[in-house]
Amino acid sequence: VLYLDYNASTPVDPRVQAVVMDALSRTFGNPSSVQHLVGQEAAERVEEARAQVAALVGARASEVVFTSGASEALTLAVLGVALADPARPDVAVSAIEHKAVLTAAELAARLTGGRVRLLPVTSDGVVDLDRVADQIDGRVGLTCVMFANNETGVLQPVREVADRAASIGSRVLCDVTQGVGKAKVSMEDLGVDLVAFSSHKIYGPKGAGALIGSRQTLSSLVSVFPGGGQERGLRGGTQDVPTLAGFGKAAELAAAELDNDAAAAGRRIDRLISIVQGSLADIRINGRGRRISNTVNLRLVGADAEAVMASMPHVAVSTGSACQSAVPTVSHVLTAMGLSRADAEECIRISVGRFTTDAEIDQATSDLVAAVSRVRALSAA
Ligand SMILES: Cc1ncc(COP(=O)(O)O)c(C=O)c1O
Repeated sequence: VLYLDYNASTPVDPRVQAVVMDALSRTFGNPSSVQHLVGQEAAERVEEARAQVAALVGARASEVVFTSGASEALTLAVLGVALADPARPDVAVSAIEHKAVLTAAELAARLTGGRVRLLPVTSDGVVDLDRVADQIDGRVGLTCVMFANNETGVLQPVREVADRAASIGSRVLCDVTQGVGKAKVSMEDLGVDLVAFSSHKIYGPKGAGALIGSRQTLSSLVSVFPGGGQERGLRGGTQDVPTLAGFGKAAELAAAELDNDAAAAGRRIDRLISIVQGSLADIRINGRGRRISNTVNLRLVGADAEAVMASMPHVAVSTGSACQSAVPTVSHVLTAMGLSRADAEECIRISVGRFTTDAEIDQATSDLVAAVSRVRALSAA
């Protein structure tokens, strides 16, 4: 299989795998059992991972809450902020947020009696700053804007949205799941209160993620998952030490290899785009704004994307985002950008990563060109 779906999930880096296996075989204690050495060793592993994960976004270890992934971190943040202040029951979200944010915002609004305000995007897939001010006012307790969109890769004007939101007292949550490891992500530069991301998008194991915010912000959240008080009482339950150790290592590598990974991915995506556009007419890029370098979303005009994928089963790309693709709905991201349902059904997302080779790009590109030509010929017949 030629795997070009790194935004859905990444393979585990062998260096991460070694750390997970080591922790799995040696560290079985409960990190809360700090009365004895076995528990202390487990706690040390978790704290080391916490520092590594914090460093990836310029935060302190004490600001990290470990979760099972980005979806859980985002949900804890949205509900935690929305339930904290009855005078600000509304949640503002960009129209292209991941479903984890959109569904949490809908749930929050149901629980608070408030409403969800959608921040529209331009046809280039960027949050429309001219229309942000209309949507954020004193009833909005939380504003959510993602760092880079998972389907188009388009980078969002987080700082500008955050400044506007903060100026009227709204907290700001940024989903950086598709940013970390692909671009420099600094909480301070973004000017946001909370960020969330996931291990399995940065070559770590599945089942780990983080919600990060200042101690003051974290202590203001309503805990919807208190359990036994672990993770500052925001996400109770015994921590999965080997998985978190792997997440920590993955975060350390993501920081160390950012420049190389991003440059190599950019070269490969540029090569793919130039060959596909050179070989086929009517191939459009969705989202012409600045993108993370590893991603491109292509509209294959006149060719149904599902049919193209079925015609090249050994090439793994995606239509819509993988987390939603079990549900047969058209991409809310592409329709928010103004594409019709039929246009959106002609789109595929290609995302590369650390282990993608030039040979894979060449083979996948030639298979894609052949598949689109076949599907177009069949549809024209
Ligand atoms: C932008 C974004 N946010 C959140 C998620 C959810 O992450 P997880 O699978 O860790 O719950 C994803 C996964 O596709 C994503 O791309």
